[in-house]
Amino acid sequence: MKNIATFLLAALFALTAAASGPEAVFLGTNHALLRVDADRGKYLLMPVQETIEDSKVNIIVDGHIDKTIYVRLAKYRVDHTVPFDLSPYKGHTVVFSIETSQSRSSVREAKEDACWSRFAYADTFDTSNREKYRPAYHHTPLYGWMNDPNGMFYADGTWHLYYQYNPYGSKWQNMTWGHSTSTDLVHWQHLPLAIEPDALGTIFSGSCAIDSTNSAGFGKNAVIAMYTSADRSQTQSLAHSTDGGLSFVKYPGNPAITMDSEARDPNFFFDKESGEWKLVLAHALNKEMVFFSSPDLKNWTYTGAFGKGLGAQNGVWECPDLFQLPVKGTDMKKWMLICNINPGGPFGGSATQYFIGEFDGKTFKADEDADGNVPVKWLDYGKDFYATVTWNNAPQGRRTAIGWMSNWQYAAEVPTSQYRSANTLPREIELYKGDDGQIYAASLPSPEIDAIRGNVVSKATAVNIGAKARSYKLPASGLAEICIDLNTQKATQALIKLSNNFGEEVLMTYDPTTDVLSFDRKNSGLTDFSQDFPDPSEGKAFSTDGALSLRIFIDHSSIEIFANDGRLVMTNLVFPRSPYTTLSVSDKDGATRIDNLKIYDINI
Ligand code: FRU
Repeated sequence: MKNIATFLLAALFALTAAASGPEAVFLGTNHALLRVDADRGKYLLMPVQETIEDSKVNIIVDGHIDKTIYVRLAKYRVDHTVPFDLSPYKGHTVVFSIETSQSRSSVREAKEDACWSRFAYADTFDTSNREKYRPAYHHTPLYGWMNDPNGMFYADGTWHLYYQYNPYGSKWQNMTWGHSTSTDLVHWQHLPLAIEPDALGTIFSGSCAIDSTNSAGFGKNAVIAMYTSADRSQTQSLAHSTDGGLSFVKYPGNPAITMDSEARDPNFFFDKESGEWKLVLAHALNKEMVFFSSPDLKNWTYTGAFGKGLGAQNGVWECPDLFQLPVKGTDMKKWMLICNINPGGPFGGSATQYFIGEFDGKTFKADEDADGNVPVKWLDYGKDFYATVTWNNAPQGRRTAIGWMSNWQYAAEVPTSQYRSANTLPREIELYKGDDGQIYAASLPSPEIDAIRGNVVSKATAVNIGAKARSYKLPASGLAEICIDLNTQKATQALIKLSNNFGEEVLMTYDPTTDVLSFDRKNSGLTDFSQDFPDPSEGKAFSTDGALSLRIFIDHSSIEIFANDGRLVMTNLVFPRSPYTTLSVSDKDGATRIDNLKIYDINI
């Protein structure tokens, strides 16, 4: 009796569940229609299976295609749902015309897809965190896929961060500008989608600036965005915002810049010297950057190109940035050209290279070394630092940068599902003159990050390591800032290890004879989602007399090392099964000394 009751209840529940969403009409083995009543809820929840190919969904309103999105509609099981915002369609019945891509032998089989019974109307979408690897103090989207940070600008105390976003799944697709803001560079507010795809294409990376002289005629202090419209070809488009960057109106004359081969990620700024706008664009496959200038942001003139055959060339050039900075300790100013490259990074896949030189308003010329070569310089020596660009208009002349904390080699495979990818900590870029006479960029954690330093959990001063490793407790929260100064003058190798109860470990090895710091995450936790993930990374630490000074930031799935005042920076993802609990320092010959160690918890 009880069983029958349970069965009836379950059947009733299944019926109500099915009734709570729109019914599919099947037109063939790979084609179905959903009639969606936009008055039944704020959202239509769409059931997604991560490993299934995209379905093409045309959203038809009054007989016209309003938008086309690609969604991995569930075939065998529902991993999670994504919300489609119905509020713009109030008062309408909207037809979702769905083309599935996997082959089905019959309509009967098509009807068995897991998605059909799980479309649902809802007034809310639950974004509470369901992921153990979601960072606690790094920017992430609430749900969905994110890659490049882009379009960043600062105004009236607010840091605006836009990003490459897929609102309809946790893999790359439907590129849209997502939007977050922060007043302290740590806590981020999530705002509505800022720029959505149109008939010219999806919305790839770009930049924003404030038009304080109304040179474009969109209004004094309008926020101007330039981005790549990506369809069969890539063109550059313009949009403006008069509500402080919340919503954008696209320029009817788009595209504003066209080229006859792949070019993307426009980065523009106002050049006070010439009174004109300058723009740098990645001529991706030619592996060069091209420059344009404009009096009014609408009409652009090509002025030159830089980079053919220079620097790292084993991948496409993407996401440029160009700005001038003083060189610390000198009265010089230099231009820095950021040039992200993928693949072709020093440890495989994506990385951020940069050039130092001069910009004459038309093109860039890189400084050469003593042998007349243009040296290759990397901004970060980890595996997970890409698409790095800086905030326009940051206060006090600051050059604040942020990178996408992932690598195209495995970004879509990392073990998260509700969302994918985080951004790095924001960093201040400074230029300094190296011992070889070259100008280099140092990156320091933005000063705002100091505010989240919590209690000291472990500390030590003047400890000679000796034959036995010294161990220190890490915060139970799994979050930490570690400040450690080592004296390795007499040592041949110092090892800093993070480990947990599963025997998982991260090894940071410093070799004073070569001045190289390396990062080994082979046994750091989950690594087998990609054969490229375990690869080690390393970089020159710029220590003097064996003094190695590190600031290490640990979040739930990342480790960022700032060595010797940011002269070496390494950003790497890690996915330990449980947080690292112990930091230990050891040394081959027992000759390393810990001058100072403080391990702080993070207050967030
Ligand atoms: C870099 C990039 C950009 C492009 C964007 C597309 O990661 O390939 O060149 O604008 O991603 O999402």
